[in-house]
Amino acid sequence: ARAALGRRNLVLVGLMGAGKSSVGRLVAQQLSIPFVDTDAEIERVSRMTIAELFAAYGEQEFRALETRVIKRLLRGGPRVVSTGGGAFINENTRQHVKRGGLSVWLKADIDVLWERVNKRDTRPLLKTENPKQTLESLMNARYPIYAEADLTVLSRDVSKEVMVKEVLA
Ligand code: S3P
Repeated sequence: ARAALGRRNLVLVGLMGAGKSSVGRLVAQQLSIPFVDTDAEIERVSRMTIAELFAAYGEQEFRALETRVIKRLLRGGPRVVSTGGGAFINENTRQHVKRGGLSVWLKADIDVLWERVNKRDTRPLLKTENPKQTLESLMNARYPIYAEADLTVLSRDVSKEVMVKEVLA
């Protein structure tokens, strides 16, 4: 898998709770290449949390920063890059990802996603009256776009290790 990747990046995309960061970290370990999480990198450079960024500047500004950070991270691969759920949905960012990496969509069912995001409430987009319904609408709106990724791996209720094997395969 490492040779097949060459200098490209392996970019994990998909909704919040799909397991992009935890699977990405393990995949990077297996491939012996660096791992980066775009949300963590955005928080590092801005010295603010994602929730603070949304509150202070709004989603549009957040997306602009996200595009810049991802564009930079994609240079100097190979890396495993896990992206925030909306990154690949943004036209600009998506074009950078398509040029700089092999994209893998971690595709999960609503119940799996909900079970995972429900435990932590750090996601500004889910601060709504009915967060499960919001997640469902995001899923409906975004799935056709995630489907443009190069590969799709089903993110089921299996162990992380099994998913890592599938991504590597
Ligand atoms: C977002 C997902 C989050 C984070 C921000 C917006 C989205 O990342 O970037 O809250 O638009 O789906 P995770 O997918 O890592 O939760």
